[in-house]
Amino acid sequence: MRILLTGSSGQVGGELAKLLPAHGEVVAMDRAALDLANADAVAAAMRATKPDVVVNAGAYTAVDVAERERDLAFAVNARAPQVLAEEARRIGAVLLHYSTDYVFDGRGASPYDEDAPTGPLNVYGQSKLEGERAIAASGAAALVLRTSWVYGLTGRNFFLTIRRLARDRDELRIVADQQGTPNWSRTLAEATTRLVALGPGALAERAGLYHFSSTGSTTWHGFAQAIVGDQPKPVVTPIATSDYPTPATRPAYGVLATGKLERVFGFGLPAWQDALAACLREERQSQ
Ligand SMILES: NC(=O)c1ccc[n+]([C@@H]2O[C@H](COP(=O)([O-])OP(=O)(O)OC[C@H]3O[C@@H](n4cnc5c(N)ncnc54)[C@H](OP(=O)(O)O)[C@@H]3O)[C@@H](O)[C@H]2O)c1
Repeated sequence: MRILLTGSSGQVGGELAKLLPAHGEVVAMDRAALDLANADAVAAAMRATKPDVVVNAGAYTAVDVAERERDLAFAVNARAPQVLAEEARRIGAVLLHYSTDYVFDGRGASPYDEDAPTGPLNVYGQSKLEGERAIAASGAAALVLRTSWVYGLTGRNFFLTIRRLARDRDELRIVADQQGTPNWSRTLAEATTRLVALGPGALAERAGLYHFSSTGSTTWHGFAQAIVGDQPKPVVTPIATSDYPTPATRPAYGVLATGKLERVFGFGLPAWQDALAACLREERQSQ
């Protein structure tokens, strides 16, 4: 099986670049090899590679900057997936693509099913929703995997920010009125690899939209507290979203119900606390 991986130096893409080669011939493309903002280059990469499976781990993920880079966010998050899907359909390849809990408006109070109404509050969420729609409209066999709050030991993410701040601050003031689920990039990559290993035929039969997340939920404050652990300093103080204004509005509630993934594929992702514990163990071992 030939696998095209985009965004291969991202949090999830970097982990996939290590795991996928056990299951096929992987053509891994980072931004230097394939600029997803260039639709012609995306089509050319598909035509040159002729993959059986495409895993699109590349995305424009700078949620706040997207508010002033709308065109670029849409080029990478909507147009590129559209071209990947259209090319996949043409050659009979299966597309695996990630989306986000930020497609929701956050007014829910219980975990969202795949068919819950969307209503993105920011440009990033709008661009990712447009990507989902373009993939659906393409007629390609595609699995769109919505996830949330991705962190890992590389890249720019909340986990690494808290680890860094915890070393030299006595107090961290963290938003406590946004609820969601942290996802370690490794567990997302492992679960994706498990899907890819089923092969294009089995994936095509189960194409569709899936909520793809660890189980359980917390707030950013709860996540920060869990990252810091039970050490006395820093103190992690809860604050309100209104105390920490950002250019992009975030949904107050973004918890994803993952029952469909479990029903259709027979497995789910670990509880977020277990994934975090494994990530912290790995961080300790690497020091
Ligand atoms: N991060 C989150 O909290 C989060 C939450 C929900 C859903 N997701 C979704 O999960 C998926 C994986 O996200 P992630 O956390 O692994 O993101 P990430 O760490 O930001 O990785 C995204 C990758 O895309 C690449 N990229 C950005 N613009 C590009 C362009 N124009 N051409 C080619 N590559 C480009 C980045 O390259 P550079 O390294 O060169 O910038 C990076 O390698 C994405 O679809 C994302 O939308 C993420």
